[in-house]
Amino acid sequence: MALQASPKHASSIRQAAVIGSGVMGAGIAAHLANAGMRVSLLDVVPQTLTEEEERQGLALADAKVRSRLASAAIARMGKAQPAQLYDPSWSSRITPGNLTDHLALLGEADWIIEAVVERLEVKREVLSIIEAARKPGAIVSTNTSGLSAASMAEERSEEFRQHFGVTHFFNPPRYMKLVEIVPTADTAPAVVSLLKEVCEKRLGKGVVIAKDTPNFIANRIGTYGMLVTLQDALAFGLTVEETDALTGPAMGRPKTATLRMLDLVGLDTLLHVVDNVRERSGDPLEQAVFARPQLLEQLASSGRIGEKSGAGFYRKVKGKGGSEIEALRLDTLEYGPKRSVSSPVIDASKAAKGAAAKVKALLRTDPQDRYARFAWSTIKKTLLYAAAQVGIIADSLSDIDRAMRWGFNWELGPFELWDAIGLRKSVQQMQKEGETIPAWVLAWLEEGHESFYKAEGNERVYASSGAYKSEEREADSLSLAALKASGKTVLSTSGASLIDIGDDVALLEFHSANNAIGGDILSAIQQSVREVSQNWRGLVLANEGRNFCVGANLMLLLMEAQSGEWDEVEEIIRFFQSSMLALKRLDRPVVAAPHRMTLGGGVEACLPADQIIYSPETYFGLVETGVGLIPAGGGCKEAAAMAAERALIASGGKAGGDLQPHLNALFETIALAKTSSSGYEVSRLGLMRPEDRVIMRQEARFGEAKRAVLELDRTGYLPPAEGRIRVAGREGNAVLKVAVQAMRLSGHISGHDALIAGKLASVLAGGDIQPGAEVSEQYLLDLECEAFLSLCGERKTQDRMSHMLATGKPLRN
Ligand code: NAI
Repeated sequence: MALQASPKHASSIRQAAVIGSGVMGAGIAAHLANAGMRVSLLDVVPQTLTEEEERQGLALADAKVRSRLASAAIARMGKAQPAQLYDPSWSSRITPGNLTDHLALLGEADWIIEAVVERLEVKREVLSIIEAARKPGAIVSTNTSGLSAASMAEERSEEFRQHFGVTHFFNPPRYMKLVEIVPTADTAPAVVSLLKEVCEKRLGKGVVIAKDTPNFIANRIGTYGMLVTLQDALAFGLTVEETDALTGPAMGRPKTATLRMLDLVGLDTLLHVVDNVRERSGDPLEQAVFARPQLLEQLASSGRIGEKSGAGFYRKVKGKGGSEIEALRLDTLEYGPKRSVSSPVIDASKAAKGAAAKVKALLRTDPQDRYARFAWSTIKKTLLYAAAQVGIIADSLSDIDRAMRWGFNWELGPFELWDAIGLRKSVQQMQKEGETIPAWVLAWLEEGHESFYKAEGNERVYASSGAYKSEEREADSLSLAALKASGKTVLSTSGASLIDIGDDVALLEFHSANNAIGGDILSAIQQSVREVSQNWRGLVLANEGRNFCVGANLMLLLMEAQSGEWDEVEEIIRFFQSSMLALKRLDRPVVAAPHRMTLGGGVEACLPADQIIYSPETYFGLVETGVGLIPAGGGCKEAAAMAAERALIASGGKAGGDLQPHLNALFETIALAKTSSSGYEVSRLGLMRPEDRVIMRQEARFGEAKRAVLELDRTGYLPPAEGRIRVAGREGNAVLKVAVQAMRLSGHISGHDALIAGKLASVLAGGDIQPGAEVSEQYLLDLECEAFLSLCGERKTQDRMSHMLATGKPLRN
């Protein structure tokens, strides 16, 4: 049957409907709104009034009551932590309703997502309602965690089934990268492609195509991993704390490790997933592993199902000094104070850098150690299980690895981990221990291969049906690590490298600890500017670190300040300023593509760029006041220039436009160290410029930035002229200072905050100068430097810096 009526492209999906406004439905609706869709969020009609509704004199028949569940979910979205919406005001894109009165909304939707409770008969019923209401061609997907998609839709028409499949989002949908798409035998290939395109391009997700088997890929392997960990923990006599100390970062997995993670997921949910596999698996060995663990049943039957019930493997209790965490004692099922765990193998793993080295250290430091034997036992079982599932739950081992990385935040998928610990040697060890190795793994080794993955040119290839196959590359994604491995480094310091990313565009990657900016990065910037000016079309500033940049390296600065070496402090500031200015003056286009934490000096490194391309997850802010300072790498100067530019535009190009409102807004942003909770929110902070933009897929940032450089180059790039900046002068400064005083008097800020804010006000306003005067960039940089130096001499500023270095958190003093 033809599919003409279906949306043609991902971009044709404008109107969506989500059914079920619980944890997942609300999260998915928020993320669709993030992608610019209009969304109807529908739930059931409540059967009883709340106390509040009774007080308000409402009746069950009132529209407000009938759509209460969805309305309440939308109201919660604005306050959710972590934020579900890129901008809280975007909740206006979501219309609440119910599945009885608002079927017409379903009829308008191009894409309908079912996210009601995980019960086959309920989901079947909801699909029948959708079928009656949807327009022909509308795509329908279910967010089931692992029920059979085919049996869910078996009573629906052929046309419906062609347009139906699973889109399994992970919680929280905005932040978790994985979406498993599961077609049934009836799903039209065009529908699978469309869903993949919309999830990748518009929602910024990583898609893995899974088969319609119980719990699909990530939950299947992840649950197996949890079950064997629990069994082994009991067999090796480990405590709750020891189990988590061994199965978190020590194994390249998140800090929540296994039992803490189980508490978060909910023991009831896990048991449900376990039942689903056991009841549908035909394999007796698998059924045995997926038996309900007695320990979990005992805990669940006493109401201890994890965080939502207040207790599970851990619980929080009120102690003398605030709340304390207690851990379950597995022998008595009583709780006791949480104990820290340390041992030589754990210490060795902690000291190792990178997931591969951590796991190796855990297994190899002392293989006879009880912890090492436990780790080997659980890892071995998980690897063998994953290998046995290739072809059953997913087409390829690469799909399994991606699902585990994106859905469970494992740093290495099972096959990547297997390579890391040595494929051939570990298989020999497993055979010695009497394990059955899947035939395809043995055949692969017999053919002489030593690993499941290897690098081939700029790409990675993986084992597939007896030969290496190219990994599916996310459109536009560039791997800096692979480029460096293939010799594309142009120049390098200990903190940064300039990399050839093709088409005569170079990329400067920061790679210092936490990507904090120190002399190593600044000198790389200066060298790169000279190199790019001579030999390249332009420069991209971006990196593959966990964060783009957490700010300037405070350690050296604090040491110099504490020993009163003011010439040295000034030298550091001037080096920073001259490096940023060199970037700005570079006669080739510069495009910055920050991601995640981009703070303080990280923001100052972006502002000289001709264009900033934000990833959706960018937490961007000039946060220097938090450490008792003000931006002095050109950040204040750029803010003053933005205010002047905005005043000029607002006045229709007349020179005398009012600077004050623009200055006030930027002053507030910097004085209060505001940070955006998304790339889009940078605009609310006033730090986004007309030429900047946000992209939906973080992985595409290198490619997008490169394209932007080439576009600027193609259209005849001219660097920004060295203009003069109109400042608000002493009057503007006075207005800002009145605001500071008011905040101080009302107790909103401390005396030291007020001192810092006062200095910031002076710099942003251009100091003690005639209002409307036009000053040079250097003049503002000198003001920044002077204010910064004087703040460095303040004891309370030094205390703030020490505190940040010691704890990673700001000190209010
Ligand atoms: P939830 O219990 O938070 O929300 C379910 C919502 O569905 C409730 O608001 C309920 O009123 C509504 N609902 C129930 N029957 C309905 C009906 N007949 N018509 C309309 N609405 C109805 O559940 P949650 O966690 O959001 O799960 C929803 C689905 O997402 C399930 O299939 C679950 O397996 C799946 N899932 C859950 C994940 C999680 O971490 N919670 C992760 C991925 C998938």
